[in-house]
Amino acid sequence: MATVQMKVSPEDLSQVPHGSERVPSPGIMVIFGASGDLTKRKLLPALFHLEQVGLLPKQFAIVGVARRPLGDEFAADMREGIVEFGGVDASDPRLESFIQKVSYYALSFDDAAGYGGLKAELDRIATEKGIGPDRLFYLATAPEYFTPIVENLGIQGMAQPEHGRVGVVIEKPFGHDLNSARELNQQVNAVFHESQVFRIDHYLGKETVQNILVFRFANGIFEPIWNRNYIDHVQITAAETLGVEGRGPFYEKAGALRDVVQNHVMELLSFVAMEPPSSFEADSVRREKVKVWRAIPPVPVLNAVRGQYGPGVVDGQKVVGYRDEERVNPQSGTETFAAVRLSVDNWRWAGVPFYLRAGKRLKKRATEISIQFKQPPLLIFNRMQMAAHCQEIQPNLLTIRIQPDEGIALRFGAKVPSAPEMSVCPVNMDFDYAAAFGTSSANGYERLLLDAMLGDQTLFAHRDGVETTWGLYTPILQAWAAKEPEVFPNYFAGTWGPDCADRLLEQGGHKWRNNLGK
Ligand code: BG6
Repeated sequence: MATVQMKVSPEDLSQVPHGSERVPSPGIMVIFGASGDLTKRKLLPALFHLEQVGLLPKQFAIVGVARRPLGDEFAADMREGIVEFGGVDASDPRLESFIQKVSYYALSFDDAAGYGGLKAELDRIATEKGIGPDRLFYLATAPEYFTPIVENLGIQGMAQPEHGRVGVVIEKPFGHDLNSARELNQQVNAVFHESQVFRIDHYLGKETVQNILVFRFANGIFEPIWNRNYIDHVQITAAETLGVEGRGPFYEKAGALRDVVQNHVMELLSFVAMEPPSSFEADSVRREKVKVWRAIPPVPVLNAVRGQYGPGVVDGQKVVGYRDEERVNPQSGTETFAAVRLSVDNWRWAGVPFYLRAGKRLKKRATEISIQFKQPPLLIFNRMQMAAHCQEIQPNLLTIRIQPDEGIALRFGAKVPSAPEMSVCPVNMDFDYAAAFGTSSANGYERLLLDAMLGDQTLFAHRDGVETTWGLYTPILQAWAAKEPEVFPNYFAGTWGPDCADRLLEQGGHKWRNNLGK
């Protein structure tokens, strides 16, 4: 398919403000569960990038907390992580001064008495480095520790700001069903006010996800057609080629619906479907998102399908089936693929099917949203007039590529030049982030960490939102738990998932778009 590229001029880029007003005030970030992968792979590289672009305060400290007794090796390990996962030159002189800000404190998360020592340590660092009272507690631990950590911070008086800003960032999974999410919300809100709570979904930190709102609400031409009168259906795909990557025990309890659909995919859906918020303030944006989720009627169990990969070939490599992965039950009934058909019953979307799917070990890594528009009311160019190399006349399709090849494409029919008749061929008008801006997007955590330090909750989940999305999926999870899947594994690694996912769309006269990416 032919493609037209778009590029942003250097003049336009030079007009963009780079916001030094977004530097948080001096403070300490405390990372619980600091010896885990997330800290090394994502959090520290993101913090270092913020430092590189001058968005961290001069007086700033990062304290890693975990059970293992670690000394200076912690900072050395973080340094390695920044170089390896942040793509940073090991000889960058800023790395040395940044690493001076990193220290470690050993604590068992359920050792209530130990939190007094942590408080004393934070006070000591603050006095020594002239750091003010702002604190951000980041919970990157296994979920069973969320409650003890929060309660102990409360008992030690660390949750309430004396003068500064105190917040708590909580990683997913935020509960494993509606009841557990409610309970966790109650426990967290018993200690921290909702305005201090930052439930993180790293998808909201992705530039391309935020760009959905800019695309819709900073441009006048799309909104008038962004509704049931013009849109036929919407597909959201979060496809991964990776398997469970050594996270077997975690994944066994999660599965694709809990791990990705209930959170990441539903966030994407809310950005596509929400009404324009009155401002980009946290309350306005989050209120509109919850309204979308609340407009989704209960999803019949028949409108959700699950799959599990068997062995296959992914990116040219032979891979084992899910049941043969490390630390996975050889008879596991956990789904590695889930697809759902749902509707958003409001005036904008009534009658428009939304198809969602997420899976591991699929054919291609691609997270995409495709908005398929209705066909023109009358097709005056019939099939006989199609150019020989083109398929049948295709409806307009707007594709938002979240990752990789970040960008947006609009497919439309064009006249094939020099053809003797009116031959039509689909072409793409394509906006490519990297080509247009000459930069690849950040890892998502940079923006979210900065926002949390600044107390901006716009890109974080509100308790109402989390409970609403869990409420939608809990009946499906319960039905699945009650009935073992009969035919697992039901798709080969390296394919687009099980046949039942195709049938889910066929019932509505639709087909998954598998031609993802550029
Ligand atoms: C995480 C899930 O939240 O998101 C993982 O736990 C998944 O299983 C990951 O692989 C996908 O994130 P991304 O940014 O790679 O699309």
